[in-house]
Amino acid sequence: MKRRMIAVLLFVAISMSATAQSPLDGLTEGDLVDGERLFRIHCARCHGIDGAGGEGSNLARPRLKYVSDDDALLGVIGDGIPGTGMPAIWTLDEDQTRRVAGYVRTLGRLEVEEMPGDPIRGQTVYQTNGGCPACHIISGAGKGIGPELTYVGDQRGLDYLRRSLTDPAETQSQTSGYTDYLIVRLRAGDERVEGLRIDEDAFSVIIRDISGTVHSFRKEDLEEYDKVFSHSLMPGYGGALNAQDMDDVVSYLMSLGSEE
Ligand code: HEC
Ligand code: HEC
Repeated sequence: MKRRMIAVLLFVAISMSATAQSPLDGLTEGDLVDGERLFRIHCARCHGIDGAGGEGSNLARPRLKYVSDDDALLGVIGDGIPGTGMPAIWTLDEDQTRRVAGYVRTLGRLEVEEMPGDPIRGQTVYQTNGGCPACHIISGAGKGIGPELTYVGDQRGLDYLRRSLTDPAETQSQTSGYTDYLIVRLRAGDERVEGLRIDEDAFSVIIRDISGTVHSFRKEDLEEYDKVFSHSLMPGYGGALNAQDMDDVVSYLMSLGSEE
């Protein structure tokens, strides 16, 4: 009995010391330089040249959403994040993956991207001028035909946020779960509907229009049915918001998330 107890304790001690070790231990300065090179080739087009985000999330943060530890970081790079725009990066071998992961770790110590305006004022603009809460939810407030923005400041950098306001159709294909935002237009008799496709099978299609009303149609009743790619239900705000309001709203969006 006693001996078994000791064996258990020994096992616990060994596994504890094993978890204290990181698979990234032992990376040299040279490895990190190579990691940066690999990052520019394989990651920068989505995460930005300095990792501050683009269509991929901002990685220059001390704490990442999907990454609890270094093993998880290797997993994210090797396997991707299912159901999101983060692909498995299979072109990297095991060593290269470790080096690029080591480089990503150094990004977490970068300075945070500077805001172009005043986030507090931006919150007011968001709530009043833009009509944004009619389509987006932030921390439970608003309605949800567009993606939830509660964590958007963690996921997106300055440039991307600005572009998604001035030219929503351009960034649309990079919005996570973007097939949820596919727009269809159809006509059945006198009824014409445009909206987001919620569901479709061989016999029927279900659509949510911009007011939130859900319509379902049998395909045999449809006289016209078009899928509209590169068209967003979100209006472009380039003209509707002045430069100051735009900077402030973008700053407000940058402030959203789990900054710890
Ligand atoms: C095709 C675009 C694309 C490429 C290429 C790409 N990523 Fe991503 N990555 C994404 C997107 C999009 C997300 C955000 C997923 C989400 O939150 O919905 C993401 C998420 C991540 C996360 C998780 C962030 C978090 O908050 O937990 C890490 C880490 C990451 N990527 C690292 C990398 C590395 C390292 C590379 C290169 C080896 C890379 N990515 C290449 C698009 C990409
Ligand atoms: C009529 C509905 C509607 C309104 C109003 C609207 N949006 Fe959107 N928004 C959407 C939809 C739908 C998307 C999903 C992508 C697409 O279709 O462009 C989106 C995408 C976004 C994105 C990109 C999110 C991502 O992770 O890719 C941001 C940021 C955003 N909206 C912010 C705003 C702000 C700020 C306002 C107000 C100034 C606003 N939206 C007003 C419907 C709307």
